[in-house]
Formats: sequence, C-alpha cells, structure tokens
Amino acid sequence: MSNAGLKWIAGLMAWGAFCSMARAQEGVGDVVYVPTPQIVVDTMLKMAKVSASDYIIDLGSGDGRIVITAAKQFGARGFGVDLDKVLLKRANESAQREGVTDKVHFVEQNLFETDLSKATVVTSYLLPEMNERLRPKLLALKPGTRVVAHDYHMGEWRADDNDTLSVPEKTVGNPGVSYIFLYYVPANAAGKWQASVPVGGQKVALDVEFSQRFQMLSGSAKINERTGQIQGARLRGESVTFWINTGTGPSAVRHEFNGKVEGDTITGILRVHAGKKVEQAPFTARRLAPGKLDLSAAPARFAPLA
Ligand SMILES: C[S@@+](CC[C@H](N)C(=O)[O-])C[C@H]1O[C@@H](n2cnc3c(N)ncnc32)[C@H](O)[C@@H]1O
Repeated sequence: MSNAGLKWIAGLMAWGAFCSMARAQEGVGDVVYVPTPQIVVDTMLKMAKVSASDYIIDLGSGDGRIVITAAKQFGARGFGVDLDKVLLKRANESAQREGVTDKVHFVEQNLFETDLSKATVVTSYLLPEMNERLRPKLLALKPGTRVVAHDYHMGEWRADDNDTLSVPEKTVGNPGVSYIFLYYVPANAAGKWQASVPVGGQKVALDVEFSQRFQMLSGSAKINERTGQIQGARLRGESVTFWINTGTGPSAVRHEFNGKVEGDTITGILRVHAGKKVEQAPFTARRLAPGKLDLSAAPARFAPLA
C-alpha cells in the first residue's frame, strides 16, 4: 500500500482513538472533552500574538485553560462557552483561583449559537465537521480576527501559519503530536482597483483586478497600460501584499505593493525595483467595481497531514 494510504489508515485509527478514549471522559454536545495540553495552549496564544487588547472566545471551553491563560499571561479579556455544567463550574472556579474573573467568564451556551462579534481571537479544539460548520461564521468576522485551531484544520481555508509540537503525554488524535493552525479572517479585496502613484519623478498608473478565494488573490494587472504579471498576492486580515513584474532582462521592473484594505480603499507603500535602484512612495488605490469573492468550499474531510 502507498505511503499516503497508510497515513490515511493511521489517521482513521487515531481518529477512532480520539472518539473512543474521549467517550469515557467528560464533555457534552458535539464532541467530548479532551483538554489541550498546556504547552499547546501557550503556543497557540503566542502564534496568535494575543495581547491585553484582545478579546478571546474559546468554543467548547472545557476547564477554561485557553481563556484563563490568555488573561493571566497576556491580560486579554474574553469568555468560553460549553454545554457541560461540571466543566463550566470548574472553569469559573479556576478563573477565580487565578484572579482573572474581572477579565474572563464561562457560560453555558451552544458554540454554534454564540455571538462572536466581540472576538479578536477565536480558539477551538473541535472535530473537522464542526470546524466546517463554523467556517462561514468565522469568515464573516471582522477582517484580521485570528482563529487558532488545535489538531483539526479548516479544510480548504488554508492556514496562514501552522506548527507541529511534540507532546509525549498526548494520547488522543495523533498521539504524541499536536497540530496548530492559525488563520486571519481575510478582508474583501476582490474587484477592480486603480491607483496613480508618483514615484521617483515618474508616474505609476496601476490597474489591477483581483479574484479572491479565502485569503488567496489572483488576477490580471496593468502598469502604465503594459500588462504585468501578478505574483505573491495574498491577504493576511486587512494586509495585502503583491508584486507586479513588467519588462524582461535589463529592463525588468518589479513593483511591490504592501497595503491595508479598508472598504473600497487600499493604502500603503509601493516600492519600485529597477536593476539596483529602489524608489518608494505611498499609494492609495480605489475599488472601481466589486469582484469574485469565493469563501465557500467543498465539505472538509478528515485527512491526516501529509
Ligand atoms: C475537545 S474539548 C476542548 C476543551 C478546551 N477548548 C481545550 O482545548 O482544552 C471540546 C469541548 O467542547 C464542548 N462542546 C461540545 N459540543 C459543544 C457545543 N455544541 N457547544 C458548546 N460546547 C460544546 C465539550 O463539552 C468539550 O468540553
């Protein structure tokens, strides 16, 4: 059997282990309780760069460790939801013991019905089909909101960052290993954009049209009416980066755009690389027409990481 086939079977066995071992434990609702190991909690919060200005919501909060750690270590505020009354009591008691009840609390609520509008960070340790169900709601959050998922990813919404930790004491999922997936809710950058930018005594007239799938951008561009090739185009929340190459050989010019998408405006810095010369200037691009924004995906399947 192929390597991929063996990995698939190993993944299914681990999946079975997750379900059956966890079944003997606590938790109420769509998934049983399995705590995220503390080293993984710490890494999840560091990857999401959680700070005192954040509002964190843990979906299915168990003993509350993620939200309590965010409050204790980084001064964040927030809450957790769970359906297990015993775990909720444990989480609220733990918040009291750790002296963070002014910042966090835990409530009995179905995670699928929870209002996430205050969140700047959402965390989860849920099953793949739950992530899939949550995905449209997460993608509708304010651009730049971070989503950090333990062990199970968001399917076709590719992670902006990920990490794999060795956790010898972990016996569920992939035993001994934890996966972390970090996402930034992307802004909507789809459509036709135009900018005219004076750089180093010359004018750069940009016409670009983006199609967007999750955070990935593709499309066509013109610089001063010359067709250019868009490269490296992607969004990280509201931050957009792309570059456009025109010309070839010694007349090749690279136009590098780094900006922030806010509604129908992108503001940022344009750097023009021509040979060894680099000129730069601020730019403002305006959206002339909306474009194709695709945030849908085929149902996610549980597939072990390659
Ligand atoms: C795998 S545990 C994760 C606990 C915690 N987030 C952590 O990482 O340590 C999942 C938790 O989700 C809770 N849960 C399952 N379905 C839920 C639902 N529909 N609404 C709220 N909580 C739910 C379970 O009771 C359990 O405590």
